[in-house]
Amino acid sequence: MITQNTIQQILSRIDIVEIVGSFVKLKKRGTNYIGLCPFHNEKSPSFTVSASKEIYKCFGCGRSGNSISFLMEAEKYTYAEALRWLAAKYNVEIEETETSPEYKVQQQVAESLYIINNFAQKFFSNALLNTDEGQAIALSYLQQRGFREETIKKFQLGFNPEARDSFTKEALANQYNLEYLQKSGLVNVRDGNAYDNYRGRIIFPIHNQSGKVLGFGARIIKNNDKAPKYINTPENEIYVKSKLLYGSYFARQAIDKADECLLVEGYTDVVSLHQAGIENVVASGGTSLTPDQLRLIKKYTNNLTIIYDGDNAGIKAALRGLDLALEESLNVKLVLIPDKEDPDSYVNKVGTAAFTEFIASNKRDVILFQLDIALKDAGSDSNKKSIIVNQIAETIAKINKAEDFTKQQDYIKQCSEILKIEESGLHALVNKFIREKVTKAENQQQREEQFAANEAANEPDGMDADVVGLFNKDEMHERAMVRSLLEFGLKDWSAEEKVADHIFKEIELNQLEDLIDNKDLVKVVQTYKHWYQEGLDPTPKNFLYHDNLQMSSLVVSIMDFNHEISPKWKEHFEGHLPTREDLFKEEVFSTLNYLKLKKIKRLIDENQRDLEKSTVAEEQMIFVQTHQHLKQMEIELTKQLGTVIFK
Ligand code: UTP
Ligand code: MN
Repeated sequence: MITQNTIQQILSRIDIVEIVGSFVKLKKRGTNYIGLCPFHNEKSPSFTVSASKEIYKCFGCGRSGNSISFLMEAEKYTYAEALRWLAAKYNVEIEETETSPEYKVQQQVAESLYIINNFAQKFFSNALLNTDEGQAIALSYLQQRGFREETIKKFQLGFNPEARDSFTKEALANQYNLEYLQKSGLVNVRDGNAYDNYRGRIIFPIHNQSGKVLGFGARIIKNNDKAPKYINTPENEIYVKSKLLYGSYFARQAIDKADECLLVEGYTDVVSLHQAGIENVVASGGTSLTPDQLRLIKKYTNNLTIIYDGDNAGIKAALRGLDLALEESLNVKLVLIPDKEDPDSYVNKVGTAAFTEFIASNKRDVILFQLDIALKDAGSDSNKKSIIVNQIAETIAKINKAEDFTKQQDYIKQCSEILKIEESGLHALVNKFIREKVTKAENQQQREEQFAANEAANEPDGMDADVVGLFNKDEMHERAMVRSLLEFGLKDWSAEEKVADHIFKEIELNQLEDLIDNKDLVKVVQTYKHWYQEGLDPTPKNFLYHDNLQMSSLVVSIMDFNHEISPKWKEHFEGHLPTREDLFKEEVFSTLNYLKLKKIKRLIDENQRDLEKSTVAEEQMIFVQTHQHLKQMEIELTKQLGTVIFK
């Protein structure tokens, strides 16, 4: 994990206007900056950035956050990736904390594998481009297939020489560890002898999203029945086949721009299409898409077009798992390449323009296509046909109804026509599956609620149902209290105390959980206290960039834009208008008092109920005294509140 110290350094240099400004054109308006929201379509700007508070908020779509969450949304980074991006931008050296020994070992292995792969990639590239053997055997082959040198260099293609162990020798001579070399799949050991796993093969490095080499696909040059056409890196700490798509590093931006991802089978298909100027393309390696791969695509676009050769037997398998795409509202189309060609050979044959045109005008709906082939398989078998009807109904039921209602209706109509059955019948069947899905979800929810209820029952201070009724107004005050802690905590309350000291003293006297119901707000206060007692000077920033996103977005929602006073308004009052800054003591005082008052009201109610239940005279006396005492406190607090509010 990145250390808190590094995070602090990064945060102290962040300039949200600069960061957001590199993605959104911003104009200054008052103390804020405004621009067109990057997260939804709008004509007039409602996307607001506050430089001083380091947050953004769109008053159109409601999205808000900080520099980090902005990068996470706009660039699809993870939290750690966003931090690393910022560290690189602001030249902050990253320090990592000690983690569990297992994790550390795994990280070390991963790091070693990356280093080995990097070394190997350079070795293979050199062997391809700069050795006689490579040029004669491999480069000529690639050139004969139409790959240009710039393409070969861009994709870092390479060649593993034919000798038994040319790579292995070089790697061992460079002190690379044999165990890791085996793990990387580059080297095998048989009878105590280490030799190159990919010897005599063309090498396709496989990159991750940031361009590091995860592994390799190694293609045989002369077709040979005994040896497999491709050998791929075995699963290891960094090469996890189900999570990667070949070419995604090179396709990212083009996918974003085209708002469409083309999916092909093979390495050569990706490289050829790229060379032809069609760059929004990735390969699955011929297997069916996994949920992780779908998610990877969905980060960039909702439109997936699968391009397969027409007579490929594997197509049914490839389309398996696509139900998940429907649930995720991914639009999946299918294009079949004709004449026993694959995308690589077809684009070489007809050229870019014709290829693009062919794709655009031959997109078929995946669901209808699947229905088609299933029907062909079934022939006249009526049993099989009824199974198909059920399957298609179940598939249609998976369409996210809230988002794609008309899509669902369309499918029911079209499928019933293809199946030659009543539309209403298919409709009823789809509804049956939806009901089943809903019931399942409800059961799941019930189980979760039951679980949450059990958890709450085990907590000593479970929330009273009658308190929940007050929630909105109370929550407002709870938020106000936390806001004043965050904003004014480090200001002087008195000569000896800071505001934070004062608030924590009050909290100690009154029990935090009695003052604040919202558990997330409690967590913010506790975190603040923890940092404060460790000698850190916490500011809203520490929370804005907290890796607990729930906490950071809560703090963003607390830090209110509306508290900014416009320059015009200020002018109007000739600088006499008091701001929250001027009145911070009153604000701290009154928000605390409000919460204390709420607590006392609750104690009065509880005492009242106890009194009503009690039948013992002495006990009743005590309850009455308690009541008077509490009432007195309530009057005091109300008075104090009044003096502040009406002063
Ligand atoms: P193809 O046989 O279509 O190969 O397999 P290709 O990529 O088009 O290669 P060329 O054009 O014949 O040179 C498609 C993909 O399936 C995986 C590879 O990812 C390949 O790119 N595959 C195929 C393997 O992993 N192992 C194999 O033995 C064959
Ligand atoms: Mn091919």
